[in-house]
Amino acid sequence: MKAVILVGGQGTRLRPLTCNTPKPMIPLVNQPFIEWMLLRLRDQGIDEVILAVQYLANSFRHTLGDGSRFELKLHIVEEPEPRGTAGAVKNVEHLLDGPTFVFNGDVMTDLDLQAMLVFHREKQSKVTISLTPVDDPTQFGLVEMDKDNRVQRFLEKPRAEDITTNLVNAGTYIIEPDMFRYVPPNQFYMFERGLFPVILQTGDGMYGFPSRAYWTDIGKPQTYIDVHHDILIGKVRYNFSGHQIADRVWVDGEAVIHPTAQVVGPVVIGPGAVIERGARVIGPTVIGAGCHVGPECSLEGAVLWEGNFLEEGVVLRNSVLGRNNHIGARTQISDGTIIGDDCSLGAENRLERGIRLWPNTKLGDKAISF
Ligand code: GTP
Repeated sequence: MKAVILVGGQGTRLRPLTCNTPKPMIPLVNQPFIEWMLLRLRDQGIDEVILAVQYLANSFRHTLGDGSRFELKLHIVEEPEPRGTAGAVKNVEHLLDGPTFVFNGDVMTDLDLQAMLVFHREKQSKVTISLTPVDDPTQFGLVEMDKDNRVQRFLEKPRAEDITTNLVNAGTYIIEPDMFRYVPPNQFYMFERGLFPVILQTGDGMYGFPSRAYWTDIGKPQTYIDVHHDILIGKVRYNFSGHQIADRVWVDGEAVIHPTAQVVGPVVIGPGAVIERGARVIGPTVIGAGCHVGPECSLEGAVLWEGNFLEEGVVLRNSVLGRNNHIGARTQISDGTIIGDDCSLGAENRLERGIRLWPNTKLGDKAISF
């Protein structure tokens, strides 16, 4: 069974984390998200994957190679320019020869793919769209179906009075290759605004597959933080590296934790990390490889990628640090703040309310307080 994963988007909503790292390659609990996805697909019976790459394409080649370590046949195909979601699959049409799974590369889900395939076959569907219920349908594109699950209508961000369903497109599809005859070649073309409305017109069978499987889009800052929380509290199954050293505290390889430091799980600590005297690390928190957490630092609900250095007394809450940042003493970072890579902040800065710092930002002592 073949799958196409769409990984060519620029991930603008997640900037600055995506300035140097494409969104599907950003770490979730210290492992590139796409690696987890490839393993999950392999375990669910997919043996050949086509990655439709564009933005920062080399990073996929460099990290994933030929896919042999995932026991998958992997093709990495680069578009000459962004073709949009449907246009990207059209670009790899020559590699398709039967019903094909298509995944958005930024969706974390434990959807049962075999059950979806059985449904697709039973309905003799041409396009099957996975659907998930949401609490606030006004923020999404809704999919209306008849009693037989055949798609009748798409409703983009409807007004409250127009809402007839809470089921939204969950970003996993099974598509018969002949449907790509409706997609114009060498053009930017999307599923939601292009191919799917066309298929409603042509009358080819398009069905919705509702599921209550775990589902979240990792592509927004708060959902990126929240999905870490969900993994660490066990709401979704996700294998991460590390051995448990205390109640819900995992260490991957060797880490140095001072006896006076307080670590309250769920916390994952990457290889080579150092946590100094009197530091408090409260879960859910992830500390990347080689991070240094200085004396008396206080971390809670934080995600640190590798190589960050925190001087004494840094406070970090509900925020993300990219790679190799240096954070000066007693600086406070909170409220969904995101710091890109290779930033250097002096002492006693205060960053809150979702501030974002672009890679290589340099700030002196007491330079920011808001
Ligand atoms: P934002 O800029 O934050 O909207 O992110 P995005 O464009 O990366 O993601 P979006 O949610 O809009 O797209 C869904 C999936 O399709 C993501 O996994 C993207 O990587 C992928 N994608 C979007 N546009 C393209 C494209 O032009 N080519 C390819 N190959 N993939 C795309």
